Amino acid sequence: MPPATESDDLSALEALRREVETCTRCDLHATRTRAVFGEGDPRARLMFVGEAPGYHEDQQGRPFVGAAGKLLEELLGAIGLTREQVFIANVLKSRPPNNRDPQPGEIEACQPYLWRQIALIKPRVICTLGNFATKLLSGDPVTGITKVHGRPQRHELGGHVATLFPIFHPAAALYTPAMLTTLREDFARLPALLADESVAEAAPELAGAPADAQLTAPALPLTAAEPVVAPSAAELGPPPATEPVAAPSAAEQLGLF
Ligand code: URA
Repeated sequence: MPPATESDDLSALEALRREVETCTRCDLHATRTRAVFGEGDPRARLMFVGEAPGYHEDQQGRPFVGAAGKLLEELLGAIGLTREQVFIANVLKSRPPNNRDPQPGEIEACQPYLWRQIALIKPRVICTLGNFATKLLSGDPVTGITKVHGRPQRHELGGHVATLFPIFHPAAALYTPAMLTTLREDFARLPALLADESVAEAAPELAGAPADAQLTAPALPLTAAEPVVAPSAAELGPPPATEPVAAPSAAEQLGLF
């Protein structure tokens, strides 16, 4: 079969959007107002993956349109990007009632959509926002975001090799102002990661999984937890000064970090 063209990928992404909008794979379909597929440039080099739609996202059918979204847009602006130039998606496409944590069964039911989005968009860098997206896409359900934020890792995701870059969820920074400094520092590393040619060169050789497998394959880490596409020490600068707060905050209780 000839390789898929960009136009094939665009059509497939639109078909996937329609599938998500009518999805009934988990019980969340009964309580959601609208499914939130994700939005942005379907050929984006940078993709963000959040946790799940909240109230405003559920109402509008768009990701990150509430307070966390405003902060995400501001952070993007600081590195010269707009939300239209990236692709923004979530682990869950439907809002959990009262913004509760995603349940394992819901993540299981919804994750094929995310693998497929990644396979079709083929981003160079995937920035996971918070614990749920990071644990799912890193394939490491144990190591939390406080440990791995700001550490690029290379993974095969949806049959496509990309740099995974975990950062704190913007909502965590809203709840805990000290987090914002760390989030800004981590965000400032994105331009260098996007410019890293080694990621683009490695991708075609390794992105050979059949389309069907991409629908179901879990994240396949090429390494355990250690980054292989790390910027140099000079690029990295000093390690983040802000350490996680000891006492559980509201954001922590929400599972954001
Ligand atoms: N938080 C998320 O994780 N996703 C959204 O779309 C909005 C808030």
